[in-house]
Amino acid sequence: MKKIAVITSGGDAPGMNACIRAIVLTANQHDVEVIGFRHGFRGIVEDLNLPLHPNDMRLVSQRGGTILLSSRYPEFKQVSAAKAAAAVLDQHNIGALVVIGGDGSFRGAHHLDQYWDGQVIGIPGTIDNDLAGTDTTIGFTTAVDTAMEAIDRIRETAEAMARVFLIEVMGRHAGFIGLHAAIAGSAEGMLVPELEPQPKLADIADRIKQARAAFPDSSYLIVVSENLWPGGVENLARELTQATGTTCHSAPLGHIQRGGRPNAEDRILSMQLGQAAVHALLDGLSGHMIGVEQGHVVQVPLRLTFERDKPLDPRLVDLQLGLQQLNFASKVVKESA
Ligand code: F6P
Repeated sequence: MKKIAVITSGGDAPGMNACIRAIVLTANQHDVEVIGFRHGFRGIVEDLNLPLHPNDMRLVSQRGGTILLSSRYPEFKQVSAAKAAAAVLDQHNIGALVVIGGDGSFRGAHHLDQYWDGQVIGIPGTIDNDLAGTDTTIGFTTAVDTAMEAIDRIRETAEAMARVFLIEVMGRHAGFIGLHAAIAGSAEGMLVPELEPQPKLADIADRIKQARAAFPDSSYLIVVSENLWPGGVENLARELTQATGTTCHSAPLGHIQRGGRPNAEDRILSMQLGQAAVHALLDGLSGHMIGVEQGHVVQVPLRLTFERDKPLDPRLVDLQLGLQQLNFASKVVKESA
């Protein structure tokens, strides 16, 4: 194999550039050329190729976003699109493709694998951390850091004004960012899709009312996963304002969670996975994701990464649910002592 292609696909994630760097440098060490295609799968179909050289990689690892650009490209589900991509890859004499992306991108990679003779490898790159078979994904811990910093800032103004805030975080349909940001931000409440049973409006309102009555000078923050509450966090804030008689503010964090420089953990993960992906391709592997479990690089069939659910760590869920009760309970004990 003399030529590898690489794309970044779906939502960009901090660390994707560090991963591209590791792929290009490792491939070069083995006399393998690397060619990028801009804008993910669409860029393959439209032949938006961009040869990548080690010298181009000097200042990329520290940058957020993706130097290869990305896109969502649902059209790739069509057989004709996969065949068109296969033809472009063949025209360039490419022997393998590395797809850095999330579950939609891995579905695309798996689809292409049915219509192309080359090797296909996935590297988990999504802030959502919602791919099974890997403990973490490129961009997840940076996104949590960003959410935590935003929560800290909201906490300061909320505490100064004794306000209630509902802070919406990303995650698509998974609660990983919500759980980790709630713990790191010492939130009084957490609403994530995996909670069973889901807290009811009346219960959330009761807890806010009790906290306000006992501690009128304190802030109260609830971290809420996106796509969870009907009408979004703005609607939840309206409903809670009505139910509690206290103004509840909504703060959707949005895409700031996706941008920004990758933290050290994401850079290291990205480079580890990028290097391992090239080694796996040289060993002849195809149709797999290169992930990480308990610090070890693992190879997982692509299908198993998106067909299985990935649960939250129950110990971390217990940690948050336990501590969020104590935020105010401990004050009760202290004040009545
Ligand atoms: O998958 C990453 C992610 O940022 C999700 O957390 C979010 O739901 C989605 O992408 C937003 O996608 P877009 O930027 O296409 O609106």
